Amino acid sequence: MKIVKTLEELRTARTHLNAPVGLVPTMGFLHAGHLSLVQCARQDCASVVVSIYVNPTQFGPNEDFAAYPRDVDRDLDLLRDAGVNLVWVPTEEVMYPHGYQTFVTVEEITQVLEGAMRPTHFRGVTTIVAKLFNAVQPDKAFFGQKDAQQVAVLQQMVRDLNFNLEMVVCPIVREKDGLALSSRNIYLDVDQRKAALVLSRSLRKARELFAAGERDAIKIHQAMDAVFADEPLARSQYISLVDPKTLLDIEKIETEALVSMAVYMGKTRLIDNTILGKPDLTLDQP
Ligand code: PAF
Repeated sequence: MKIVKTLEELRTARTHLNAPVGLVPTMGFLHAGHLSLVQCARQDCASVVVSIYVNPTQFGPNEDFAAYPRDVDRDLDLLRDAGVNLVWVPTEEVMYPHGYQTFVTVEEITQVLEGAMRPTHFRGVTTIVAKLFNAVQPDKAFFGQKDAQQVAVLQQMVRDLNFNLEMVVCPIVREKDGLALSSRNIYLDVDQRKAALVLSRSLRKARELFAAGERDAIKIHQAMDAVFADEPLARSQYISLVDPKTLLDIEKIETEALVSMAVYMGKTRLIDNTILGKPDLTLDQP
């Protein structure tokens, strides 16, 4: 496994990779969710590139950029074991050198859900991912369904800016009890960790109702609120049912609905989602 830092090193190493080349962009502190993206990429591509970069522009002023967990040596061991070909660990000088002033903005769909709560977040994500795509020139790029809005925003950017690559969306990975894997789970104390099951419990409730024929988004929302009412340690910031592509609210579900949420457990903000109308093995199994 080759490890590079600068753009020049990356470009040289890229020329030696067999096609198709898959890119898994990460912010490091890897868990089984990231490794499942690497597995997807290995199955689909002859070569796999992973980037590790905690991108400052996608954190708001009061968010956890400085405290975001980092352990590059451990990440590199995991990626070596996972059979990755090339790892790019750029520094801030490489990504945002002095005088940097260009940003990529996707408009409407970044203004709802996560974007409404974190106004500059997606501008940072689209900017860094566009830069990663330009530098690595992957044939395929792998992202997790866990960040459902990020997937929708990046798919929009790829279409709008004619990036010549295929976006591959891989399923959410959960602990056995249902908690979606996240680098932020390490912040949860024992009681919060137990209480955090309310996210997957409420999503399962939504899926049960949908499976039983319920198509009224308000009724599904109310049933989810009732699940939250039984869990005093959780404070939901939003729960919403939207069209998976436009991210606009829906009242009656015709074919599919993205049910997503952000929830505070103490100071830790967790997100989770499911798409009604699509199989979700991790939530449908008892
Ligand atoms: O999903 C993430 O970890 C980040 O948003 C990404 C895509 C690596 C961009 O920094």
